[in-house]
Amino acid sequence: MIFSDQLNHASIIDGCRLSRAKIIAYPHNDVDALEDLIKEHRGNYRRALVVTDGVFSMDGDIAPLPQLAEVAKRHNCILMVDDAHGEGVLGRGGRGIVDHFGLHGIVDIEVGTLSKAFGVVGGVVAGSKRLVEWLRQRGRPFLFSSAMTVPDVAACLAALDLLEESTELVDRLWENARYFKAEMQALGFDTGQSETPITPVMLGEAPLAQTFSRRLFEEGVFATAIGYPTVPRGAARIRVMPSAAHTKEDLDFALQAFAKVGRELGVIG
Ligand SMILES: Cc1ncc(COP(=O)(O)O)c(C=O)c1O
Repeated sequence: MIFSDQLNHASIIDGCRLSRAKIIAYPHNDVDALEDLIKEHRGNYRRALVVTDGVFSMDGDIAPLPQLAEVAKRHNCILMVDDAHGEGVLGRGGRGIVDHFGLHGIVDIEVGTLSKAFGVVGGVVAGSKRLVEWLRQRGRPFLFSSAMTVPDVAACLAALDLLEESTELVDRLWENARYFKAEMQALGFDTGQSETPITPVMLGEAPLAQTFSRRLFEEGVFATAIGYPTVPRGAARIRVMPSAAHTKEDLDFALQAFAKVGRELGVIG
């Protein structure tokens, strides 16, 4: 059976469904509630998996992985993390959430993507040799789809080289994110619970978020609106993702556009 965070990414939800295991969603990042659910159901199944996003893509908050690891261990569950938004962001030089919390060898499976911070396409699964070998032989979506192209693989390796050479890009990403978030908050915007560079600008209703995004585009800023069903009703937002490639001038340009549109639409005073 699988215990899956309520706000896990759609790809995790689909993966869970493909497994045909019994799936129980637990309240977002609520370790006590998870443990209660495990106590209630674990005994009925031989094997159990706890799966969570590392960094939640819509809110930018971080899974309480050390506590999840304790609970998983206590109840003999496999622990899996999808660190799509933590790789290249969290941990030493962007090594991801497992490194951020020092949980090497404790998390059983880490899934990641090369399509976000790495800027290419493709993904990775890290785990025991046995698991990786099993996935190579039996993972149907992997076995029965085309391999990555050679240029994409070369670009992934080059991105890894850049990250291994220096922490400069990751440091700049965090500097940019801290600056942007602090300035947005000073303007009066609600940037939610984010603990990472993912910066949601909470707007409430979807039509407002869509109008806001369209007006930003007219002002020269591309930032898309996200509404139901990707996020709950009434929690529509614009998701901003500063990167290491943005200059201070870029960020100031964006901040001015946000301020102008925010005042125009009555979001800020
Ligand atoms: C948590 C998470 N996992 C997986 C993915 C999918 O990554 P990819 O586009 O590389 O398949 C995403 C992308 O949005 C994501 O946010």
